[in-house]
Amino acid sequence: MNLHNVVWFGDPGIDDTIAVIYAILSKEVNFLASCGSSGNTSARQSSLNFSFIFEEMGLDYSVFRGLPRKRRLVQLLKEVHGEDGIGGTYERKSLRKISSVMKMPEFLSGARSFVLVNTGPFSDLAMLCEKFPSLFKSKVERIVAMGGSRCGGNVTPSAEFNIYSDPISAQRIINSGIPVILVPLDITSRVTLTTEDFAWLQDKRFPFAGKLFKMITYYQKFHESYEGFSGFTAHDPVALLALLKPELFRFTDVPVQVEKKRGITFGHTAMDFRYRSRNSTHNQISVATDIDVERARDVLINTIRRGFDLLD
Ligand code: RIB
Ligand code: CA
Repeated sequence: MNLHNVVWFGDPGIDDTIAVIYAILSKEVNFLASCGSSGNTSARQSSLNFSFIFEEMGLDYSVFRGLPRKRRLVQLLKEVHGEDGIGGTYERKSLRKISSVMKMPEFLSGARSFVLVNTGPFSDLAMLCEKFPSLFKSKVERIVAMGGSRCGGNVTPSAEFNIYSDPISAQRIINSGIPVILVPLDITSRVTLTTEDFAWLQDKRFPFAGKLFKMITYYQKFHESYEGFSGFTAHDPVALLALLKPELFRFTDVPVQVEKKRGITFGHTAMDFRYRSRNSTHNQISVATDIDVERARDVLINTIRRGFDLLD
């Protein structure tokens, strides 16, 4: 079993939370640091949510707060993830110190190397990469990110939310020269889960199990109302599978351009799969193009179940 040193940028967010719980219970992720970014909720609340999740799971991981950002208003956010970003389950716990993301590079200066996981907008990650290029170029093995789409969007018909939130930062990461593994919406949307898959959480004595089920129930209600099916899509957990179970995927190296001009295609990811572009070295990243859906579902559900069984 591998152990990955990970620095995680995310916007928990219910699917981010499921991904973090999967990471913790997999025992394959060592969280060197996490940064709560503005996205599904404010940067302040995202960082509080990271801290809440780790505290509930009995873990003392370091959490940083991303920069406050004015986001293009996305009407549905509260319907998707709730006022607090995690389905109304947030409880103010200890006053554990949460430092600004600007303090993260100093905190990581002693680390050997790590994987960057990005499950939200790319703003904070791109800002740090730009301000501290040597740190990131010398220590980051690769970036594993959920974002973009090969066909159709979710926040608009053309764009996926993490890219739409900050296309310029997304393009900076794509062009950074750091190996990027991108898991787009057309792949993550194929992995649907349901509250029935996780109904056993309600029988667990471990307190956070019930809170996770409440989040999942909230998230499924959004999908029933706005996506027209009785289940939910596990975007961020599938992105983490690309790090922990790459054998479940097929990847293709392609150039990716992000639309930064305002208009109906704002935030669109133009992924160039044409044969003539196969050898282009410009903006080329590794994009997930297929996934073993049933095995992905099985790994996510059963890793989380076995993990909570051991906690009870
Ligand atoms: O488009 C899906 C992505 O946007 C996920 O990361 C979800 O948490 C939201 O941030
Ligand atoms: Ca997210």
